[in-house]
Parts: sequence; C-alpha cells; structure tokens
Amino acid sequence: MQLVEEPDAFSRALDRARDAGASIGLVPTMGALHAGHRSLIERAVAARDHVAVSIFVNPLQFDRREDLDRYPRTLDADVSLCADAGVSTVFAPRAAAMFPADSATSVSVAGISARWEGASRPGHFDGVTTVVAKLFALAGPCAAYFGEKDFQQLAVVRRMATDLFLPVTIIGCPTVREPDGLALSSRNAHLSADERLAARVLWRALVAGRDAVASKEDRPGAVADTMAAVIGTEPLARLDYAAAVDAEDFTVPRSLDAARELRLLVAAVVGAVRLIDNCDARVPSVAAPRRAGRGDRSRSARAALRRDAEGSGD
Ligand code: PAF
Repeated sequence: MQLVEEPDAFSRALDRARDAGASIGLVPTMGALHAGHRSLIERAVAARDHVAVSIFVNPLQFDRREDLDRYPRTLDADVSLCADAGVSTVFAPRAAAMFPADSATSVSVAGISARWEGASRPGHFDGVTTVVAKLFALAGPCAAYFGEKDFQQLAVVRRMATDLFLPVTIIGCPTVREPDGLALSSRNAHLSADERLAARVLWRALVAGRDAVASKEDRPGAVADTMAAVIGTEPLARLDYAAAVDAEDFTVPRSLDAARELRLLVAAVVGAVRLIDNCDARVPSVAAPRRAGRGDRSRSARAALRRDAEGSGD
C-alpha cells in the first residue's frame, strides 16, 4: 500500500493502475476510521482491483470552527486499518494542497443542498461537493463509495455527479449500527457515558416513524411528529429536525405514497454532540401487489431498478 500526500502523485498512481487494466474504487473519508468506514472499504475491495481511500478533514464543510478543531485525527491508526483491509493507495493531502490560497472555485448543488442538514449547517454541502468534485477530478473514472448514514450527502453527491457528467459511479452502502441501534459515527467518540445511552433515542425515533408508516399513517407531518415526540422523551437530547421526505430530492411529499421512495430523517443534539440518522420506510399501499403497475408503484420500481443497476456496476 502506498501513502501519498500530493494531489498530482495521487492522480498519477490511479492513472498507472488504470493503464495496467485495474478498475478503481474510491472511498472518500475524513479519517477517524471506524467499522462503518471499514464496511465501505471492504465493499470496494471486494468489487474493484485498486482501492484508494482519501483521508482529509475538509475545512470547507465545517460551519463551526470548534467542530473542525476537535474533529478526531488518527492518521496512523487509519493507515493501519487501510493496509489491513486491502487498500492500495491512501491519499492524505494537506489543506494547502487541496485549497491553495488562490483557489477560487466552489461547487454547489441547488435545491437539495438547502434542505435539512443544509438548512441547519449553512454552506456545509457546498464544502462537501467542492472537495468531492476535486477528489473525483483527481481519481478519474471510478466507483465511489459513500455511507447511507449521511443519506442527504449521498443524494447531493449523486446529483452533482449526474449533473456534471462525471465518470464516477456512486455506490451507497448501508449504515453500520451498534447492537442497540446507534449509527456508527466519528462524533460518537465525543459522547459521555450518559449521552451515549441517550443517543439511542435517534434510532428509537426512526423505528417509531417506520412503525407509523407501516400502520398506514399517510401524513408526512404526523410521522415527523411521532419521531419528534420520541426524541422529546429523552432529557439529554434536543431535536433539530424530524422529517419524512422523498429520498431523491428531500422535499416533503403531499402524502407518503406520493414519494418516489421514502426516507425518514432525524437530527438531534445529545449533550453537545449533534447526531443525525435516517432509515427507509415502506408505505404499505405502495408495496401491496394490487398497486403493481400503477404510477407510484412504477416510479418506486424504477428507483429500485436504478439502484440495482448501480449495484451491478460495483
Ligand atoms: O462523509 C464524509 O466523511 C465527508 O463528508 C466526505 C464525503 C469525505 C467529504 O469530505
């Protein structure tokens, strides 16, 4: 495994691998790698000949300076994990190499970037898309692996890759959870023991929302209220948002079965740590066989087919 710091050395390493006939997988990360990242890396290693992991704490996507300063930096452990998982190249650039003082370009995806996480963290997604566009430009044609834990980020990056005709197949990978449901996140390291217990409330809220959808609640607002009420039962948690949204553009549909595909979202601050989570939810009337062939059903079937096609390119 090689560790490279310079953008052009990274680009050349992947060009060489491609010239030798290798298919390329890219796993963009900010380091502090945990089992969630490892699952992305393992998925990439299983499907691609040459897997690159980028490790870069991107200053552009932090809306608060103190979050950037206290973001965990564990490069040695990250590099060992990558070597152990079969990664071929680790790219760990300095901030000045990714964003030289005279750099003047940013990438912004309108609409979807302004909602939910974008509304709570102004500029966040512009920071993500700007750095991911640079990583894609350096990597060249490849498959890039992102966790569904950051489901809105995944949708924003997909939109960017489609709109800019980038030669990158975006692969979404399932969230990895602790046995009690808490989604793995680098931020979990900042939770105290009490907050760690309290943080389970996010997954409980999502399960309650999913149950509400399964029991034929069709009003997005009512599902959101159900999830918010669960968060409200936890004294250490403060709700940021709870929502039932269309999984493609993150708008709230008129009714749940009008969504092409449904996603439930929650964000809450537990102690001083902001956590997000999400899950899918099946609208019973859409899943029922009698709806087969009808408008909503065929739209969600098309979405499923698209996912399968992306998966088979994996
Ligand atoms: O999900 C992350 O870790 C980051 O947002 C990403 C995609 C590496 C961009 O900095």
